[in-house]
Amino acid sequence: TRRIIIDTDPGIDDAVAIAAALFDERLNIKLFTTVSGNVSVDKVTKNLLKLLAFWNKDVPVAIGSDRPLLREAINASDIHGSTGMDGYDFPEAKYDVLTKNHAVIEMYKVLMESKEKTTIVGIGPLTNIALLLRVYPEAVEKIEELVIMGGSLGRGNYGVLSEFNIAADPEAAKIVFESHIPLTMVGMDVGEKALISTKEQKQIQKMNKTGNMIDHLFRNYRGGSLETGLKMYDGCAISYLLEPEMFELKEAYVAIETQGTLTAGATLVDLEGYLGKETNCRVCVTINTQEFRRWFLEAIGKCD
Ligand code: BDR
Ligand code: CA
Repeated sequence: TRRIIIDTDPGIDDAVAIAAALFDERLNIKLFTTVSGNVSVDKVTKNLLKLLAFWNKDVPVAIGSDRPLLREAINASDIHGSTGMDGYDFPEAKYDVLTKNHAVIEMYKVLMESKEKTTIVGIGPLTNIALLLRVYPEAVEKIEELVIMGGSLGRGNYGVLSEFNIAADPEAAKIVFESHIPLTMVGMDVGEKALISTKEQKQIQKMNKTGNMIDHLFRNYRGGSLETGLKMYDGCAISYLLEPEMFELKEAYVAIETQGTLTAGATLVDLEGYLGKETNCRVCVTINTQEFRRWFLEAIGKCD
């Protein structure tokens, strides 16, 4: 099994990613950390604790940054609803899994406690991960891989050229992309091809209680539509960990724009080498949609 930490801001597609990761025996989730993103860190933490209550799972949860490094927080409540996870009547949040320390300290502890390296999966803005790299640079060696959902080879879904997770905290993204850790970018280009249609929605509805819950969330999710397909951005990051063969990958130097008045948060994926820099990232350039749908149904089928 692979030791992982998931840094998240649930988030309807985060909830799907969390379900798939929690019930896959190839992954050993040591810690969840939360970050200001889709909505405030208080709300996303409560959402995560509700999910853990729903499944009665005891994975520790550490609360992280309540705002980006330098900027004011933005949010995506137009996509996920005002709570960040609208659409289902969850049980009371499971507060007993909350840790005492800040996310960055708990991440450090998990990284250092074992001889084995740990993979970090970032499916929200990169604030916590940037802080970890700055506060505990010695922990870098203990990171097996950092897989992030964020960025874009082309256009944006928040700004013209910026994807939400990077746009929310471009300075944090810059720290992460310049850190020389083994980095994989699962960007919105693949997220937009990881489409769930009414066919899969109908199938999960009756599959088990998780499928039923996700079906309710899907009815309130505005990341695409049931007619054209729902974009499973964050689920993609988990599917990459488990079935990387579904993706086409390219090594590239990725620069993060932090200065542009119109383009801050853009990820410049330098496939042609214009910038003359060493590659710093493995970039997912495309995904097999049919295979992703098959994986999604199998993954939700395990969530019992
Ligand atoms: C990313 O932004 C959030 O709204 C989603 O949860 C995902 O992590 C997609 O751009
Ligand atoms: Ca997210």
